[in-house]
Amino acid sequence: MNHITDQFYGVTKGKEKTFVNGFHQIFHSINNTKKGIYCSDNLLTWGRNLSFMKNERLMKIFNKYSKGQYPLHGILWRMATIVWAAEIGLKLEGDFVECGCYKGTTAKVVHEYLEFSKIKDKRYFLYDLFEHDESFSHHAMPEHSKTLCDEVKDLFKSEKNVVITKGKLPETLSINCPEKISFMHLDLNNVDAEIGTLEILFEKMVPGSIIILDDFGWMYYEQQNISELNWFNKKGYSVLEIPTGQGILIKR
Ligand SMILES: C[S@@+](CC[C@H](N)C(=O)[O-])C[C@H]1O[C@@H](n2cnc3c(N)ncnc32)[C@H](O)[C@@H]1O
Repeated sequence: MNHITDQFYGVTKGKEKTFVNGFHQIFHSINNTKKGIYCSDNLLTWGRNLSFMKNERLMKIFNKYSKGQYPLHGILWRMATIVWAAEIGLKLEGDFVECGCYKGTTAKVVHEYLEFSKIKDKRYFLYDLFEHDESFSHHAMPEHSKTLCDEVKDLFKSEKNVVITKGKLPETLSINCPEKISFMHLDLNNVDAEIGTLEILFEKMVPGSIIILDDFGWMYYEQQNISELNWFNKKGYSVLEIPTGQGILIKR
């Protein structure tokens, strides 16, 4: 079982194919079975169990929404981490939150995998700007547009327990904000917005709930890493940086 994509950041691609050629050399030097290879999203492993790939239901739902395409296809291991944390949140009191839902596909995989539509006492809060303005300090995403918010609403049109809020965090928390949170995915690529959001939402997270910080381990977002580590350390928490580039923290 392998997961091999060409979704890597900060490498030479294109005509020179330096990175791809290098990978082929590594691949051919892996002995025997050439199994357990995860080559994607700046990760290269071999001889790993990749047990999340044996979860047939998860893989089916993941493939349905990723369609083998950027960006979801390349971040399978990140997705497995998110689903694991969300599944723990299912057993706790409180709602789910994704700050920076973009096209809504990550939340859609979680929602469908956990059969969230059958859960009566939880809501899934999704926040995003959905479009980009030159004045923003963070970078745009390829599919930001004036219609993206409606497209995400359409993706969840039959789900009564999904609350989609368009606008700038943390300000939009004054419009829609959960009382208690049992799982949070923080993915804004934007240090000020993440710290501002944490200031309001972290205290709402119930004991045992998990927060996944998507950008925490990525050097491109080093300022988030520094500021958030500092912010959490002051509260007596530490964050585990994992090889996917995510940070994980369990609320006490
Ligand atoms: C990397 S994308 C999120 C990807 C998404 N979590 C997923 O798994 O597909 C980051 C998103 O954060 C949003 N964002 C950045 N700053 C924001 C802010 N202050 N308020 C709301 N959304 C913001 C951007 O519009 C962008 O869509």
